[in-house]
Amino acid sequence: MTKYVSRERKAVAAALAMAGLITAGSLALARVNTRHAAISEARAWKAPKRANKITNPTKMTAANISAGKSIFVTNCVMCHGVHGNGNGTAGAFLSVKPADFRKAAFWKQGEGAIFWKLSHGKSPMPAFRDKLSRHKRWQVIDYLASAFKPKS
Ligand code: HEC
Repeated sequence: MTKYVSRERKAVAAALAMAGLITAGSLALARVNTRHAAISEARAWKAPKRANKITNPTKMTAANISAGKSIFVTNCVMCHGVHGNGNGTAGAFLSVKPADFRKAAFWKQGEGAIFWKLSHGKSPMPAFRDKLSRHKRWQVIDYLASAFKPKS
């Protein structure tokens, strides 16, 4: 009988120890998850300071805007959506939601930072440095500004 009790106690102790480990493990996991959530919430993608020095050499002419529109339709719409709100058909399958160009916060970073991000990319956002010439990258930004930038 005593033997049985002590064996049972051992089993209980082992179960408790296991439970403790699991709790500690899930707490640690929870902490990591919270940290991830905080990072994605803060939209951690920041262009380097030097990007602020990049200025737009193109003029927002009708020709540049219309060229930018066709670049946008071919290269960006599938993720960022026709309305620039990040609801493109491919965008729905990505782990990170594509940016919403209608947000004032997006434009607040400045066109230099936007140009830098468009050039360098950040998975799943592709880098366009080697896909579109500088001129084309600015034309698409001209289009984004004319079509989606909130008027203030
Ligand atoms: C494969 C899908 C995909 C394509 C194609 C794509 N993007 Fe993106 N884009 C994203 C995602 C996802 C993000 C958000 C990335 C992040 O914040 O980590 C993003 C972010 C951006 C940002 C930075 C947003 C911010 O909040 O600062 C800009 C600028 C941008 N995209 C412009 C473009 C332009 C212009 C094109 C077309 C020339 C394009 N993207 C094509 C998926 C895409």
